[in-house]
Amino acid sequence: MKREIIITSDGSTSIHLPDWNEQYHSKHGAIQEAYHVFIKAGLEHFYADFISNSDKKTEGEISILEIGFGTGLNAFITFLEGKKKSLKVNYVGVEAYPVLDDEIQKLNYVSELKATEYQPEFDKIHSVSWDEKQLISDDFKLTKRKQFFEQIEDVNKFDIIYFDAFGATNQPELWTEAIFLKMYKALKKEGVLTTYSAKGSVRRAMQTVGFTVERLAGPPGKREMLRATKK
Ligand SMILES: C[S@@+](CC[C@H](N)C(=O)[O-])C[C@H]1O[C@@H](n2cnc3c(N)ncnc32)[C@H](O)[C@@H]1O
Repeated sequence: MKREIIITSDGSTSIHLPDWNEQYHSKHGAIQEAYHVFIKAGLEHFYADFISNSDKKTEGEISILEIGFGTGLNAFITFLEGKKKSLKVNYVGVEAYPVLDDEIQKLNYVSELKATEYQPEFDKIHSVSWDEKQLISDDFKLTKRKQFFEQIEDVNKFDIIYFDAFGATNQPELWTEAIFLKMYKALKKEGVLTTYSAKGSVRRAMQTVGFTVERLAGPPGKREMLRATKK
């Protein structure tokens, strides 16, 4: 499928799919959306609990599953946030259609995030081989899994899921009870899943498989988003 690099409203790049009229991120701002939906509502929310809960603290590492690794933006921002908070992160990004090298060269995340000192880590996130756990830094392990979401069979492994599939208009099969049951199983107890979607049908599918679901304020351009917790 044809892919084009675009600039979103906050100045950060994204990828546009003309055939689907779909973007990898919000047109209103890729970096803003990533911070709002995945870092603030996911990582920071979980972390607040993590540091006040000694049981979780002793495990020492936050494990994150990303549904749709794409441009690696969420992975890179998580790496940067992990550095700020001195967190150990074990990050798994699932992706069936990896972004190509010449597309990666056109992404402006390192400069937009004012993170030029971490350009080597951004490059490493993209250059490390697939399907093997790799050390991006001492505190950030990354496994890029070249896999279809439908094939995910993890059980009780993750603290946080960044659910960043394309929208239900183009991929309704990824917003179903069957997929959310996989997500529920993949999370540890008290684990959280966040997504930019706020659709009623998505919320109900999450609830049906056992999640407790909150509606939160959405990122710029979106009224609401969802956070699902495995209680
Ligand atoms: C919204 S984009 C992810 C954006 C990404 N999180 C980022 O920050 O760039 C959705 C991703 O899901 C991938 N994808 C679509 N269908 C898939 C499937 N069935 N299994 C695995 N990956 C899929 C696409 O190739 C795309 O990279």
